[in-house]
Amino acid sequence: MTALMLFMVLLVVSSACIDKDSKQKTLENTTQEYYAETYRPQFHFTPEEKWMNDPNGMVYNKGVYHLFYQYYPDSIVWGPMHWGHATSEDLVHWNHKPIALYPDKLGYIFSGSAVLDKDNTSGFGTDENPPLVAIYTYHDMDGEKAGRTDYQTQGIAYSLDNGDTWTKYADNPVIGNTDIKDFRDPKVMWHEDSQAWIMSLVAGDYAQFYSSQDLKTWKLTGEFGKDVGAHGGVWECPDLFKLEVEDSEEEKWVLFISINPGGPNGGSSTQYFIGDFDGKTFTTDQVAHKWLDWGTDNYAGVTYSNEPNGDRIFIGWMSNWLYGQETPTEKWRSAMTVPRKLSLRKVGNGYDLINYPVSNIEKIIKKEEKKNVTVVAGEKETVSSDHLMQSDLRFTTQSKDFRIKFRNSLGEEVVLSMLEEEKEFLLDRTNSGKSDFQEDFASVQKMPIPSLPEETYEVRILMDHSSIEVFINEGQYVMTAQLFPNEFYTDVVLENTSERGIVFKDFEIGEVQRIW
Ligand code: FRU
Repeated sequence: MTALMLFMVLLVVSSACIDKDSKQKTLENTTQEYYAETYRPQFHFTPEEKWMNDPNGMVYNKGVYHLFYQYYPDSIVWGPMHWGHATSEDLVHWNHKPIALYPDKLGYIFSGSAVLDKDNTSGFGTDENPPLVAIYTYHDMDGEKAGRTDYQTQGIAYSLDNGDTWTKYADNPVIGNTDIKDFRDPKVMWHEDSQAWIMSLVAGDYAQFYSSQDLKTWKLTGEFGKDVGAHGGVWECPDLFKLEVEDSEEEKWVLFISINPGGPNGGSSTQYFIGDFDGKTFTTDQVAHKWLDWGTDNYAGVTYSNEPNGDRIFIGWMSNWLYGQETPTEKWRSAMTVPRKLSLRKVGNGYDLINYPVSNIEKIIKKEEKKNVTVVAGEKETVSSDHLMQSDLRFTTQSKDFRIKFRNSLGEEVVLSMLEEEKEFLLDRTNSGKSDFQEDFASVQKMPIPSLPEETYEVRILMDHSSIEVFINEGQYVMTAQLFPNEFYTDVVLENTSERGIVFKDFEIGEVQRIW
C-alpha cells in the first residue's frame, strides 16, 4: 500500500468514527448550552472546571447555604488543596464563588467544617457582626516528603462578610501534631449541654474529641473507635450530631466516619455509629458495621451546621478513591450527591439511618402521570423515556423479587436486582458503558436488605448524566454509583423474577429540570 492510499484509508476510517460519534445521543450532541459537556450532571453540583473531592465547611448563614469543597484549580486530578466555594438559597440551585482558602506556608488546605460563631466567642467579629469560622486541616507536603509523621495540623480562618473573604488566624495551627500521620478533618459543633465547642477529629483509624470555649484553644477530652467499627482503612471526615427518631420524641447521637479503603463494595465508604455523647466522648453498644450508603460512590459526606429549619442535611462526594481520578471526564471531575435529609428509624431493637433527597428538589421535577405497570410472573415490560438521563423514577410495590434495567440502543445497561430469598439488592454496572478506565469500576455492588416491610414500600431512583441514586423504602436502603454510558439510556425494563404477578404501582418517570 502506498503512503497516499494508507492516508486515504485512515481518512475514511476516522471520518466514519466521527460520523458515528456525532449521531450518538450525548449531552454534547444534543445541546450547546453552558454545562452541557458529555456526562455533565444537570441537577447535581459540580465545579465549573477541574478537580473536586470532599464537601467542606457546610454552614448556613443569613439565607445562604455555603458549600465549600476540596478543590485543585490547576488540574483534573488531586493536587495542592484549596477550598472551592459555592452558595445556594434552596439547596437545589448553586452559584459559583471565588476560591475561599488557598494553601499557605503551613500546607495544603484539607477537609474541615465551618460554624457561625454567633456569640463571637472567638472575638474575630463583633456582637453585631458575628464571624463565620472555618476549621480545617493543614497538610504540610514538605513534611510528608521528608518522611515525617507530624505533617497534619489543624488551622482556623474567619469571614466577616458571610463567606466572601476569609482571614487566616495569625496563630495557626490551633492544634499541633503529636506524631499521628493521619490526623485530620475537624468537624465542629456547638454543644448546648456542656456550653462548649466540640471538635471531632480522626487520628489514624480512630476518632478524637476536643472541647473549646473560643475555637482557638482546644483540649482533648476523649477518643472512640479503636476496637469498634470497620477498620479496613484510614478513618476520615467524622461528623457528630444529634438526630430525632422518626415518629417519636427520642433523640440519639450519630457519628459518621468515612473509611478508605474498606468499604463494603470496595474502596471508600461512610460508616455510622448510633450512641451517646456526654460532652467528652462518644459511646455505643452497636456491634454491627453500619453503612450510610452501600453504593461505591458516596464518600466523605458530612452535614450542615446551623440549618435554619432544624433539619440535618447531608451532602457526599459522589466518587471513590479507587478510581476517582480516572473517570472519563475532561473539563471537571466528579459531583456531589443531591442534598439529603437525615433521620433515624426504629427497626427491630435498633435504629437505621435514613437518608432521602431534600424536599426542595420536588420543585425542579416535572411530574408525569402515574400509572400502574403490571408484569406477569417471569415476564417483562419496557417503558421508554426520552428524559431518563435526568429523571426521578418512582413506584411502590409489595414485591421483593424483580429486576430493573436502564438500557440504551448500544445494549449498555445498568441492572438493579431485588432478590427476595437472599434479602439482597444488587447494582450491576459491569456493562453500563465506559468502565475500562480502571479495573475496579465494572462491578456488581451488593446491599443487604434485612427488613423491608411486608406491605407496600417505595423505590425511588434519581438518574443524572453520570450517576444513579437508589432510595429504597424512603431512604432506609441507599445506593449511589457513577455511570458513564456511551449513549443516553432510553428504556426501563421491568422484569418480574418472581412466581407471582407484580404491580409497579404509581409508576412515574419525572423529568428533572437542569439547575444551571
Ligand atoms: C477524604 C480526604 C480527607 C482529606 C481530603 C484531602 O476524601 O482524604 O481525609 O482531608 O480528602 O483532599
